[in-house]
Amino acid sequence: MPFIEHVSDSDLERLALERVVPALLAHGFFYLDGLLGELAGGAVLDQVKELHRTGALQDGRLASSAPGVHRSSIRGDKIAWVSGSERGCEAVSFLLSLIDKLVSVCAGRLGSKEIRERSKAMVACYPGNGSGYVKHVDNPNRDGRCITCIYYLNKNWSDKQHGGVLRIFPEGKPFVADIKPLFDRLLLFWSDRRNPHEVQPSYSTRYAITVWYFNSEERAEAKRRFRKRTASKLQQSSSSS
Ligand code: OGA
Ligand code: OGA
Ligand code: MN
Repeated sequence: MPFIEHVSDSDLERLALERVVPALLAHGFFYLDGLLGELAGGAVLDQVKELHRTGALQDGRLASSAPGVHRSSIRGDKIAWVSGSERGCEAVSFLLSLIDKLVSVCAGRLGSKEIRERSKAMVACYPGNGSGYVKHVDNPNRDGRCITCIYYLNKNWSDKQHGGVLRIFPEGKPFVADIKPLFDRLLLFWSDRRNPHEVQPSYSTRYAITVWYFNSEERAEAKRRFRKRTASKLQQSSSSS
């Protein structure tokens, strides 16, 4: 039975408090299968396929780049940023509001963390040519991102045949966690240095939707730093011209 069909606010609260929060606090990550069920999950998949078909997905960008290093040797995905309010994204919007509810219940129980906002949704496709995403940390330098949430969309996925496993290397732990990008699976993990991770080479089209929830305080601080840096760059360029 898909989770969504029998979800009430109290079910969501139980899931958050009994499973998500304890897993995050103990292990730093959590995943759940059958979030939306075949019908609603299938509708999300159709919308993502439509974005892909119409050319809305573009090469993923790097935070910083070194000369001579080809982007696709680091990350080989194609992405689009989606708010959910676009036409044809109704199912995606439904998914996002469900994840928002889940995370907002968790937020109050995750220590002192204030989690009130998130990024837009990143719709990502690894085209299946063997590309992946090398080991990285989503938020190594306190940019405000606190929780990474990934919803996977791949039916009949065989990791042996298609690769595409997300491998987490939990900081200071003697093990790794291998997570297959299976249809209707929701994954949450801390975005900071506690969770280096990689997407292993993918040999079939691999779809996922990712949102990042912000710690408000850290986000505000990051924005202040960014503004200062931009202002001083502007000053430099105006005084040197
Ligand atoms: C990312 C990422 C993981 C995945 O986009 O930063 O790590 O499983 N994606 O798609
Ligand atoms: C996974 C998974 C269950 C299994 O780790 O992604 O689906 O039976 N595990 O392999
Ligand atoms: Mn990542």
